[in-house]
Amino acid sequence: MPTNQYHEPAEELSQETRTFARMITSLCEEAEAIGWYEQRISLEKDKDAKAIMTNAQQEEFKHFGMDLEFLLRKNEKWRLTLQKILFKKGDIVELGEKGEHAAE
Ligand SMILES: [Fe+2]
Repeated sequence: MPTNQYHEPAEELSQETRTFARMITSLCEEAEAIGWYEQRISLEKDKDAKAIMTNAQQEEFKHFGMDLEFLLRKNEKWRLTLQKILFKKGDIVELGEKGEHAAE
């Protein structure tokens, strides 16, 4: 079943842009799965079921990370912005402001 992942007419988009859009969709789906597992894990009482879901969520972390890395390799401004925000200590909003200007 096709998903409506294009905001513009797909036939007018380059192959690279269509791949980028598909990876954005995949990134969103991985984030959604992480959120769903977070909720299920928080409520699950069965120890084994909880362990399986925790393992599955870990897989989704990996998928999300690979999708994000792919996208950042394709968009230098996005990469530069996130390099100022991710894995840093300090105020997140301040880091975001620095990141916003890093790509200028
Ligand atoms: Fe996944």
